[in-house]
Amino acid sequence: MPIHVIVGAQWGDEGKGRVVDYFAAQSDITARYAGGDNAGHTVRVGDETYKLHLVPSGILYPNGICVLGGGMVINPLTLMRELKQLADRGIDIAPERIWIAENAHLITPAHVALDGAREAQRGSAAIGTTKRGIGPAYTDKAARSGLRAGMMANADLYRERLTEHLITHNKTLEALYGAAPLDVDEAAAPLLEAAAFLAPYLTNVPLALNEALRDGKSVLAEGAQGTLLDLDHGSYPYVTSSSATVGGVMTGLGVGPKVIERVTGVVKAYSTRVGGGPFPTELTGALGDQLRGTGANPWDEFGTTTGRPRRTGWLDVVVLRYAARINGLTDLIVTKLDILSGFDSLQIADRYTLDGTEIRELPSDHARLADVTPIYGHLPGWHQDIMQVTDFEALPDAAQDYIRRIETLTDLPIRQVTVGPARAQAINR
Ligand code: IMP
Repeated sequence: MPIHVIVGAQWGDEGKGRVVDYFAAQSDITARYAGGDNAGHTVRVGDETYKLHLVPSGILYPNGICVLGGGMVINPLTLMRELKQLADRGIDIAPERIWIAENAHLITPAHVALDGAREAQRGSAAIGTTKRGIGPAYTDKAARSGLRAGMMANADLYRERLTEHLITHNKTLEALYGAAPLDVDEAAAPLLEAAAFLAPYLTNVPLALNEALRDGKSVLAEGAQGTLLDLDHGSYPYVTSSSATVGGVMTGLGVGPKVIERVTGVVKAYSTRVGGGPFPTELTGALGDQLRGTGANPWDEFGTTTGRPRRTGWLDVVVLRYAARINGLTDLIVTKLDILSGFDSLQIADRYTLDGTEIRELPSDHARLADVTPIYGHLPGWHQDIMQVTDFEALPDAAQDYIRRIETLTDLPIRQVTVGPARAQAINR
């Protein structure tokens, strides 16, 4: 059976969590392939709100298997806490249904400290990372000095490597950044405890997953972050350090490309971005505040992981066309259309001008995104509350036109539109 990939088509926070939650109901396995606890998925089930950072959203269905793939960087302390919290709320966390890839890399407190120290040193050029240690953990992976999850199965070896790792990074913290070193024993103790807790979950994921596919199981690959945050294809250096795009599915899970049948891009009905970096359609005034919300609701535009207010702006189709190309998107899902209710008129950027020339594609040097001026198409808004609408034709004409305009501009079908945070607030097409 094939793999259905869910990727973010913008700068992350597109609402992938609820989309994954929707498709997980029809999938045997949900697998995260990249990133770490920099991601945050908010899923509403009935009156309950779950905020997940590492465990795939499929965990909320009783029978699904959840995979944390080898392309991930896993903070064992966060993962242990998340699993225990899920268990406390009655969710089954048996090792048979949660597979942690042995080749995933681990994030330690040293990585977290380094992330903070590097950001502080960057000053006004800071990336605005989530300070979860993501960049330093992937740095160690690429330098071939990282700690892999599989090491947690061998307590003696793990203790030895962990100690070496902490001592080495303490030297860097002190010498390069003038930061306080970590107490090695104090830092290691909870990690050793987490290792004992997590060891039963360690799995040869590429083998188990390929066997499951051969046996006819369906797999949902859950993207984290978004296309413009991808290490290779995003707006470098204002990116995360993983392969958030579809390429990450193959390296992150250990599967071949032919098993991928569908690649759905998740798009918010407008744009948001957290952290630094260029954002052509950003709105800084009252309109931006209207899109952001006040923070009173869990779905307002404040980071799930850091609580930071997100930057907001109009929808940017130049970005979507780029995401379609990089990921080979087969279709789109548009989330949070309800947030656009109440605007007199709406705008969608479908081209830019750069140095006086009109362009339809992102400049190859993404740093130049800071210099583009979006060219907007204007559409009428609508004022009706659409949060209870379940049928596309029952949406106000202006809302239908908005969705159809995105289809025309991206040349992709929109298969679902969400109009509220609950599972039922989704219109299928
Ligand atoms: P890092 O992944 O913590 O290193 O952060 C690098 C950049 O990616 C920063 O701009 C973060 O705000 C952004 N980022 C990382 N994870 C997410 C996410 O899940 N949603 C939105 N932005 C993210």
